[in-house]
Amino acid sequence: MKDPLLQGSAAVLPGTSLQKACKLLVLFCAVHLAFTLVYYVSGREMNFFQYFYQQRQNSSKNTKETELESTEVVLPDCPESSPLLVGPLRIEFSISISLDEVMKTNPYVKEGGLYKPKDCKSLQKIALIIPFRKRDEHLKYWLYYLHPILQRQQLDYGVYVINQDGDSTFNRAKLLNIGFVEALKEYDYNCFVFSDVDLIPMDDKNIYKCYSQPRHLSVSMDKFGFGLPYHQYFGGVSALSKEQFQRINGFPNKFWGWGGEDDDIYNRIVSRGMSISRPDAVTGKCKMIRHERDEKNEPNPKRFDLIAHTRQTMNSDGINSLTYKVLKTEKHPLYTKITVDIGPVPS
Ligand code: BGC
Repeated sequence: MKDPLLQGSAAVLPGTSLQKACKLLVLFCAVHLAFTLVYYVSGREMNFFQYFYQQRQNSSKNTKETELESTEVVLPDCPESSPLLVGPLRIEFSISISLDEVMKTNPYVKEGGLYKPKDCKSLQKIALIIPFRKRDEHLKYWLYYLHPILQRQQLDYGVYVINQDGDSTFNRAKLLNIGFVEALKEYDYNCFVFSDVDLIPMDDKNIYKCYSQPRHLSVSMDKFGFGLPYHQYFGGVSALSKEQFQRINGFPNKFWGWGGEDDDIYNRIVSRGMSISRPDAVTGKCKMIRHERDEKNEPNPKRFDLIAHTRQTMNSDGINSLTYKVLKTEKHPLYTKITVDIGPVPS
């Protein structure tokens, strides 16, 4: 007779299978859980590292952005009237000066004769154009006096000396046209001051900038007893904005030798409905360096006839008919010198 207990063993068999199945199921669940856990933990770790990496990336990006922002300082506009001006100046041409000294006393002027204030944004970008040939002694005085004045006037400026090559007759107005074109190739100038090399202002309140009308700056020269030789006089130093200059088709190219080209420019301005703006006779005082008349710059006998016909000639003679060749560009510490071949004098 079978032990009832043992009897039951046969019946227990299916129970044992169930137990095995249960164990298998538990094991399967445990493995599944373990896999899930490992995957989950490793996934979290990845995310954590990714998160950490991203945070580092972001923070270094932010630092760079802040650095960039802090170097891109936005300057305030310079005031309408510079607080650095001193008024009347003592101008002498008997003192001996060297370009080296001029360089040392103007440490903020960059190569090529460029300057802009470091604390404020100038209201205009000004190219100073000097027609030139064999006047190095005069240029030295011009640089000595003008650089400090222009800096006190808080101007963003560049000095361009346009040197006529060769020994044929001088052509001042053509050199000025060339200065306009060449300076614009270097910087986005919007104002052009055309100055003879031998004229120095006697008051830094005579601002070398552009106005709503073309500006005559040398209104009170010692040479003319500190006044105008005649009302229409526009010689010496003048300032025209880019737009004003273009409106008159620039200056004439056909005035070879001394005289008349400034009268032609005056006629151009008036014929385009503009007028001349001037400082008062005290502020506009200026001194001229005395000198002999230059060789090959004799008075032009054709000038009277030419200025009688400005209205007829100005549309075809000017910046639109300018031809020349640049022979050399030199970047000096206090100015840019551009030597040009302006072609032969027409017979
Ligand atoms: C000439 C000008 C000159 C002026 C003053 C005029 O006769 O035509 O070019 O600037 O005299 O010397």
